Amino acid sequence: MDKPALESSIAAQENSILSTIRKVVIPAAGLGKRLRPATLSQPKEMLPVGRKPTIQHVVEETTATGISSVLIVTGRQKRAIEDHFDREEGGNGPDACIEGDVDFEQLGVSFFFVRQSRARGLADAVSLAEEFAAGEPFVVALGDTILYSPSGTDPLLRRLMQTHLSTCASATVAVETVAKEDVIKYGIVQPRTEIGDAFELSGIIEKPTPSEAPSQLAVASRYVFNVEVFDAIRAIKAQPPGKGGEYQLTDAIRWMIHEGLKVFAVRLRSDEVRYDIGNFGSYFRAFAEMGLRDPEYGADLEAHLRVLLQK
Ligand code: G1P
Repeated sequence: MDKPALESSIAAQENSILSTIRKVVIPAAGLGKRLRPATLSQPKEMLPVGRKPTIQHVVEETTATGISSVLIVTGRQKRAIEDHFDREEGGNGPDACIEGDVDFEQLGVSFFFVRQSRARGLADAVSLAEEFAAGEPFVVALGDTILYSPSGTDPLLRRLMQTHLSTCASATVAVETVAKEDVIKYGIVQPRTEIGDAFELSGIIEKPTPSEAPSQLAVASRYVFNVEVFDAIRAIKAQPPGKGGEYQLTDAIRWMIHEGLKVFAVRLRSDEVRYDIGNFGSYFRAFAEMGLRDPEYGADLEAHLRVLLQK
């Protein structure tokens, strides 16, 4: 077999392995308090970043790996998210050929919605996906965070899914290095093995103080789980809630590690960026960077910013 044929046969094999993960759960029930007044009457996940609302970036990122079933966990004042993914004949959807939009229906992507009736934490939101998962492994992608991988490179989510399947892990999380003083904002992992692009975990803790933190590697909004996670969530819900009075996904992952289940982490590459839309600082950066990447307006915006910055 010549090199291109070999490469395409390897790619086809990888794709068929990855196709065992067909589902994504997108928690999007958070209240968006840090983004008021922008979120007084609209979900933070609908705030635009460049031409598209944040949650559309998340759906495009996850369905680009071949995932075809999307469950969005919503809540009060989140109905705009459901409306956004409706497509009406002759309406404002992609049928009207909006440039740069994606026709999810044509891609064979199905949308499902479930409501979280109270803000009881990320683990509680994920527990609502048990029927949807129906025994299959699935991705969790936080709906208020865009994960940018440059086009033409192997994206983070694919590497996460590959590691999950090749290591037979029960859970696999994306991680990135954060500053010591920022560990208090994240789930922080404790590596069991040497830290490479992917490595096994021996512990994980939600929002530790800098002195409690076992590393500076923070959970970065993307996960892959086997259905054992639902047992883990049931177990932690039998205990008092975790940090912030909520049931934390991090605590469910820690339970899995203590039960002897394998949990792996995959690091973001240096050219990959996580944009957390949940606060204005990161939201502004995300909008500026996406605007600069816009094929039609990016160059103009860059020239304008250069002039502004010289003043
Ligand atoms: C959540 C998780 C945390 C993770 C963070 C970023 O925290 O609980 O473990 O590190 O997302 O992915 P939140 O930002 O909702 O407080």
